[in-house]
Amino acid sequence: MSATGAADGVVVVTGAAQGMGRACLERLRPVAGHLVAVDLDAPAIDGAHGFACDVSDPGAVARLAAEVARLGPFRALVHAAGISPTMGDPRRILAVDLVGTRLLLDAFEPLVTEGSSAVCFASSAAHQVALAGADPDLDALVEDPLADGFLDRASARITDSGLAYAYAKRGVIRAVARAAVAWGPRGGRVNSVSPGIVETAMGRRELAAQPVMQVILDRTPLRRTGRPEEIAAVVAFLVSEDASFVSGTDVLADGGSVAGLRAPASS
Ligand SMILES: NC(=O)c1ccc[n+]([C@@H]2O[C@H](COP(=O)([O-])OP(=O)(O)OC[C@H]3O[C@@H](n4cnc5c(N)ncnc54)[C@H](O)[C@@H]3O)[C@@H](O)[C@H]2O)c1
Repeated sequence: MSATGAADGVVVVTGAAQGMGRACLERLRPVAGHLVAVDLDAPAIDGAHGFACDVSDPGAVARLAAEVARLGPFRALVHAAGISPTMGDPRRILAVDLVGTRLLLDAFEPLVTEGSSAVCFASSAAHQVALAGADPDLDALVEDPLADGFLDRASARITDSGLAYAYAKRGVIRAVARAAVAWGPRGGRVNSVSPGIVETAMGRRELAAQPVMQVILDRTPLRRTGRPEEIAAVVAFLVSEDASFVSGTDVLADGGSVAGLRAPASS
């Protein structure tokens, strides 16, 4: 928002058709001069410019960045598009959730000016992996998702979709830290949010399909799932001036689930 309180700049939300992306778009309306709603099919949302883009497609991501540059100064990118373990094989999960994130952060980098900000969606799954001890080789692998042959090597090493999702999201947290270093000198900030189980089509699908999700829910201190609006509130904070000294970090918004899993089972 400008010093006069008027909305300005272009706010881009991926995965905007539904779920947390849609909640973020609604929450950020007041600070957007232009609102760009991105999804696989261009979302038809009142007051938003719909844009079709598969975030794993470098050409489509480049076209999105060009469109944003045409519309006006780049204010914020909220990257919520993603797929979960039951929605693809390891290769596709790594392509959409990790490669897509790096493509977007790289494509938007030239547009960064003072006050630009990005928030990418990671997941509490990235933190759960660390409870059992993350594999340093896999962490090193996901550090460079744009390396030649990355998807071939990663999908040969990671054959379980749940693990692919968790390491893709660990890679998102690393990509955010890397982008924060690149964007910072021009006054841009980059962070991620790691939701726990949230009531969206994806959250409901994983709860129904994976028995471990109910175990996680039972161990969640708040004893409930999150609402998309609760995550959108965290995202709104991160893109706002209130978070003007916050960059390169991940915010775990999970109702305490990771703390609950770390605690002895009886507590
Ligand atoms: N729901 C949860 O419990 C939960 C928990 C932790 C993290 N997350 C993460 O939060 C983000 C949002 O999840 P959600 O629950 O709102 O999901 P959702 O399935 O409700 O919405 C995701 C949106 O992303 C879009 N999308 C999928 N692949 C895409 C692609 N290749 N290019 C462009 N758009 C694409 C879908 O069409 C959909 O509209 C995801 O990154 C997800 O991994 C979700």
